[in-house]
Amino acid sequence: MANIILVGAQWGDEGKGKIIDVLTDKVGVVVRTQGGNNAGHTVFINDEKFVLHLIPSGILRKDKKCVIGNGVVIDPIGLCEEMEGLKKRGVKIDGNLFISETAHIVFPYHRELDSQREVLKGKNKIGTTKRGIGPAYADKASRTGLRTLDLINKERFKELLEARTNENNLILKTLGANPLSFKEVYEQYSVAAKYLKPYVTNTVMLLQEELQKETGILFEGAQGTFLDIDHGTYPYVTSSNTTAGGACTGSGVPPTCIDYVVGVMKAYTTRVGEGPLPSENSEIADLLHSMGREFGSTTGRPRRCGWFDAVSTSYAVKINGISKLAITNLDGLDTLGVIKVCVGYKYGSTTYNYVPSDINILTKVEPVYAEFEGWKKPTIGASNWKELPLNARKYLRAIAELSGARLNIVSVGPDRKQTIFV
Ligand code: GDP
Ligand code: IMO
Ligand code: MG
Repeated sequence: MANIILVGAQWGDEGKGKIIDVLTDKVGVVVRTQGGNNAGHTVFINDEKFVLHLIPSGILRKDKKCVIGNGVVIDPIGLCEEMEGLKKRGVKIDGNLFISETAHIVFPYHRELDSQREVLKGKNKIGTTKRGIGPAYADKASRTGLRTLDLINKERFKELLEARTNENNLILKTLGANPLSFKEVYEQYSVAAKYLKPYVTNTVMLLQEELQKETGILFEGAQGTFLDIDHGTYPYVTSSNTTAGGACTGSGVPPTCIDYVVGVMKAYTTRVGEGPLPSENSEIADLLHSMGREFGSTTGRPRRCGWFDAVSTSYAVKINGISKLAITNLDGLDTLGVIKVCVGYKYGSTTYNYVPSDINILTKVEPVYAEFEGWKKPTIGASNWKELPLNARKYLRAIAELSGARLNIVSVGPDRKQTIFV
């Protein structure tokens, strides 16, 4: 079976969770390779809603192995809660979930630093999820982070945590924040360590065995291309490589084992948090919000919305090596008479057909739009390509072509069943 990387081709929340759930049917293993519980991946199964934060969305299918890879940053308290919540709903965790021994741990001082830095940034704040993701990855890069194998080693953990808490308390005090109690954090994290220990293993070797067995591995991207620390709209990004390369470094599976990359994108654009969004449009935002859609799965914040932006998705296709596209939320556009698509960014006398690196330019570009005739019919009941209205098919073909990859999946509703293979 194929080894597939799935990435978000926009600014996150593209509907990756839903598409992962659908594709899990075709593989034996699902792996998260970056990010942390800043992610919120929604899956609907027969009207039952699940939102996954750290656990791969594949967990909702029995008999599939799910791995939290080395590239993820784990908040152990959040993870225990998520595991317990799923167990209570009858989801099989034991025997199906494996946690990397080298994944880094998120501590309360990371969350506190995340919040304090946002306050200090004032109007230039990033709009983070305040889950401590940036400071945890900063510790990893500074070689001062603690990993899962440290967390589950009683003696070593106490010593390391005390040293790290003391150092971070100095920083917190300087920032005017309250220092944290080592004792409290130690007690709380020790309980979580005991709970998580049976699931912690060398996931690199586990995945190597699965590669030998050719069971098929699906790499569940979190966030999206333009939140990538290298390729996104820096500094308005997250702190990991959300693009395809992150799947390999975050799991220990080499690029030579990857068969293809699937890019997930909405039929329009959304972003939660601050930073440039060239095709942002209040009319489409009002429309989607009035339908009760586009509120963040992790923080509940209303997402900013805009027209489909083919300049950015064609860039995403190039840098991720996307060959297949999954387009979600088509039904969000069902009522519109005219649908716009951004096909260029105008800045002075220059028209960009790619995403300029300088956000001072990106925040000032004027979108150049192409217009498409709407279909003004519900698509939600369509079960195959031919059942989609003609104008919807034309629109889908056009945005796939403008993005530069083949259309493979269309999603017309949040449920597993509301999926069309093209
Ligand atoms: P992710 O982070 O990429 O997994 O996406 P989120 O779960 O944060 O946000 C996507 C939202 O769109 C969720 O509420 C999904 O249930 C919903 N969704 C996904 N695909 C469709 C679709 O085709 N139609 C509708 N109406 N909702 C969808
Ligand atoms: P999924 O996997 C959408 C955004 C935050 C903020 C920026 C940095 O559900 O698509 P962070 O807390 O990571 O330091 O915040 O990144 N962000 C997301 N936006 N979907 C996500 O995940 C996100 N994870 C982080 O809103 O702008
Ligand atoms: Mg999400």
